[in-house]
Amino acid sequence: MHLHTYYERGRHVNISIFGLGYVGAVSAVCLAKQGHRIIGVDTNPVKVDLMNKGIAPIVEPGVGELLQQAVTSGRLSATTNLTDAVQHTDLSLVCVGTPSSANGSLNLDQVLRVAEQAGQALRLKNTYHGLVIRSTVLPGTVEKAASVIARESGKQLGRDFGVADNPEFLREGTSVFDFENPPYTVVGGTDETIVNMLAQMYAGISAPFHAVKVREAELLKYACNSFHAVKVTFANEIGAVCKKLGIDSHAVMKIFIEDTKLNISPYYLKPGFAFGGSCLPKDVRAITYEARRLDVAAPLLQSLMPSNDAQIQRTIDWVVQTKRRKIGILGLSFKQDTDDLRESPIVTVVEALIGKGYDLSIYDANVNIARLMGANKTYIEQEIPHISSLMKSSMEEVLEHAEVIVIANKGEGFRHILGKLKPGQMVYDLVRIAEERNTEHGHYEGICW
Ligand SMILES: NC(=O)c1ccc[n+]([C@@H]2O[C@H](COP(=O)([O-])OP(=O)(O)OC[C@H]3O[C@@H](n4cnc5c(N)ncnc54)[C@H](O)[C@@H]3O)[C@@H](O)[C@H]2O)c1
Repeated sequence: MHLHTYYERGRHVNISIFGLGYVGAVSAVCLAKQGHRIIGVDTNPVKVDLMNKGIAPIVEPGVGELLQQAVTSGRLSATTNLTDAVQHTDLSLVCVGTPSSANGSLNLDQVLRVAEQAGQALRLKNTYHGLVIRSTVLPGTVEKAASVIARESGKQLGRDFGVADNPEFLREGTSVFDFENPPYTVVGGTDETIVNMLAQMYAGISAPFHAVKVREAELLKYACNSFHAVKVTFANEIGAVCKKLGIDSHAVMKIFIEDTKLNISPYYLKPGFAFGGSCLPKDVRAITYEARRLDVAAPLLQSLMPSNDAQIQRTIDWVVQTKRRKIGILGLSFKQDTDDLRESPIVTVVEALIGKGYDLSIYDANVNIARLMGANKTYIEQEIPHISSLMKSSMEEVLEHAEVIVIANKGEGFRHILGKLKPGQMVYDLVRIAEERNTEHGHYEGICW
């Protein structure tokens, strides 16, 4: 029987769960509720005993009741014997701890230990087994676990066993609800069989199921948690400034979160070039200065401009390391459909390159119009005459001149240059000009991809 066909949506899966802490215990009771057969495994015999008696090993609303039902129905049992659990299940969920080491690095000892034990158990097994890492782990961990299992079992990855990363998004205190109502399910698996098994395991959860690359799944959890930390710190720093000024921060943030267009939305969350223009840099500087004046520590707000400058420096460094001298810039204003050059970060890049003696050509349709007659005519002529003189009247002129082309905004037609590159010509894309890229002859690279 082929596993791909056996694992169809809607059938129940036999699952072992390694680690009966928060994630393991909640996963165990919620998956048993869905009808799956669960064997919980922990090195701690006290937790195992409690589970078998239907007593929750963690303090968490709802877990006790679900556990009792699961044990009574016979769908859930617990053991300290991992080998035995592997023998009797098709899929193992790794929910062990991944604490910080003393130097702050991620300690994978528990994860690699269970991979080793699972590998030894697989020696004795003749059917496919899936190992799913639900602990929070950095990119590369699934690969490490897979090689440990291959070494210990003598079995082949993709044929005899598979490994996947499937990050968990639950919060303690509301974990049963969170498990049953996730924003999405994300799975990065080494092969199709393990992804199909997980699709079947989650068939009862109505949330989008994203099968992604292994490392994308691993990194996603860190992106989410770092962003949550940014949100908390951001709200707290705004709150600290508010308090000093006698303003109720909750009144401010209540309205802040009502803006689902720019504040609470996918906007500004696509990696690319530095922010710029006439508002963001000026306003970030002003609130940072105000915090300093009020003696309010605001390290997050203070780090915003240096972080933005680092993104500008990354672009300059990239151009320098190409060791080419003829540089073309497509897009000079801080975003498409505007001629606004105030605090446009690409202007900083251009000025640095002029200073280093590079031979530059620049094209931006909107700036060209403004240079001739627009509101920015005076600014361009008086503030940046050194840049103005480098501007070309067509994209083709830049394409003809440059060995390296930097795309700095989503100006009309810029995407088409990717199909027109000459052999050896290089493109550095700061804005992800196109998802589909035909760069047959040249070299293409994105600033963050
Ligand atoms: N707690 C949360 O809210 C939460 C949410 C999402 C993700 N996570 C991540 O999930 C992972 C687990 O978190 P947790 O809070 O449930 O951890 P925890 O420390 O509460 O539980 C880990 C359990 O694993 C057991 N264990 C260790 N080695 C074992 C082995 N070789 N075999 C069997 N059991 C073993 C321990 O005895 C312990 O009971 C971590 O990576 C964490 O970052 C936690």
